[in-house]
This record gives sequence, structure tokens and C-alpha cells, in this order.
Amino acid sequence: MDIAVIGSNMVDLISYITRMPEEGETIEAPDFALGCGGKGANQAVAASRLGSEVLMVTRVGDDLFAANTVRNFELNGIDTTFVLPTPGTSGVAPIFVDEQSRNSIIIVKGANGALSPDDVEAAAAEIARCSLIVLQLEIPLATVNAAIELGSRAGVPVLLNPAPATEGLDYERVALCEYFVPNETELAILTGLPTSTLEEVSIAARSLVERGCRNGIVTLGSKGVLLVDAEGEELIAQTTAVEAVDTTGAGDAFIGCFAHEITHATPLRDALVRANAYAAHSVTGRGTQSSYATADEFSAWVEGR
Ligand code: RIB
Ligand code: NA
Repeated sequence: MDIAVIGSNMVDLISYITRMPEEGETIEAPDFALGCGGKGANQAVAASRLGSEVLMVTRVGDDLFAANTVRNFELNGIDTTFVLPTPGTSGVAPIFVDEQSRNSIIIVKGANGALSPDDVEAAAAEIARCSLIVLQLEIPLATVNAAIELGSRAGVPVLLNPAPATEGLDYERVALCEYFVPNETELAILTGLPTSTLEEVSIAARSLVERGCRNGIVTLGSKGVLLVDAEGEELIAQTTAVEAVDTTGAGDAFIGCFAHEITHATPLRDALVRANAYAAHSVTGRGTQSSYATADEFSAWVEGR
């Protein structure tokens, strides 16, 4: 196995809207799509479509969504040994995408809230055989912490994507991660520092690197990505300008591709450039996983530009 994703899965219920309703108002939206999502699952699917072997550690509910989610993992070639059933609802995400392709997301964690440190322990032997652990914050923090500790104990590097922005993450644990990959908002919440200019982003990211995190990687949307490490900092600009249709899940596309590249010996900076392009490609299609390219599709798209 190349990558262990310990994280969430959600069912995305995406309404394409012209505006948000006011309180007490009912309005009509022109279109809707149901898709498989959740930050963990999205990242796993992106990496797997690009050719990585992926182990998914997650929980689904006992509702009509569960079987579809498991089937989706299987269709994407993901190891489902640790996709565990839980009483109650699966994670769901009502998502609203407006005509400017901006999204608003509500997550109901459901079964994801039951993914426990014991679940991580139960999968420890398999996780320890992976070359990278990938984490986000749609599962309990105690479980994220257990996974970071397992990574240090087993010598498996950890990539932490602190999304959605959550308070209460502790710096000591973040410092154990090889790759810490927030966006500007998540970085601001975690550090309590402003991140509205590139200089501020860089100062905030440096504060994490000074505490021991090897690579602070801040995703800046269409502006690219800022890498901060012990040697200094570098802006890796987005080279691909695209017409955005739906930006939902672009961050997950970035993480999934980056994880795939670094577990396949791509040098760090090249991996960031590839991940940037993969995320840019994903915004040209609707939905999250539904817009993630396979390795062949991605190469064809890159060559055609
Ligand atoms: O990052 C995008 C994802 O956030 C969506 O798929 C939704 O499920 C939420 O988890
Ligand atoms: Na998309």
C-alpha cells in the first residue's frame, strides 16, 4: 500500500443555485447532483485514480447511502477492509454552488463522528505498511491525534490537511507531521495570525515550521501554493489558468495528487506543481470526485494545454 487515508466520507447533495434563500423563503434552484464526497474519501479517490494503492479507514452509517459509498470505494480500487459500519446516518454534505462557481458547504458528520482511536489501532499493522498517512479534520480530533502518533511510532510520514478549519489542534502534534497543508483560512484559525497578504501567510506558516513541522504548504487557490520549510519559502505559482465551473473539492484534488506524487518519488516542488494543475483541472468539472481525472485523462489534459 502507498497511502493510508484515515478520514471522512460524505454524500454530497449539490444544489446549483442562483442565490441563497432568505429566512422563511422557498426558492427554486436550476439543478442538482448527488455525488460521493467527504474530504478523506475525495483525497483517497484522487490518489487512487492517479495510480496509488490506497487504504481507506473510515465509517459509514446503516442507511441507504452506506452501500453506495462502499461500492464507490471498490469501483475506485480502494482497499475497504477498514470501511466500518456504524448505526445511524452516514456523513452528508448539503452543498450550494452559485453561478460564479463559489460554494457553501454544510457537513453533517454522522458516522464519521464515530471513527475512533481504537479504529486506528485496529488498522495499525496495515497503516504501518503504507508510505504516507493522510489526515483531515472531519473526524474526531482524538482520532487524528492517534493517527499522528501511530505515524511517528511506525516511522510513516504524516500529511495533515487541517480542513475544515477547527480550533483545538495542538501545535505539538502538528509539529510531528512531515507535511502540513492548510489553506489561508485554516492557517489563520490555527495560528491566530492574519493571512490576508502573501507576507502574512508566510509569517504564519513559518510559525508552524519553527515549531518543528517540516513542510508548511499553504494552498492559495488560483494563486498557487506557498512552500515554507527550514531553508526558506517559495511561491509555486499556478501555471494553469482555467474557467471554473465548480471549485468544490479542489483542495482535496490537490492533496490527493500531491500524496500520489510524493509516494512515487516525485521531488517536492514538482509534486506541488502537478498537484496545482490537478486541482485546476478539477474545477473545470462539476462536483468533487466526479471531476477528478485518472492518470491518463490528466496527462491528456496537461498535454492539450
Ligand atoms: O472538500 C470538499 C468536501 O467537503 C465535499 O466533498 C464535502 O463532502 C465536504 O466534506
Ligand atoms: Na469540480
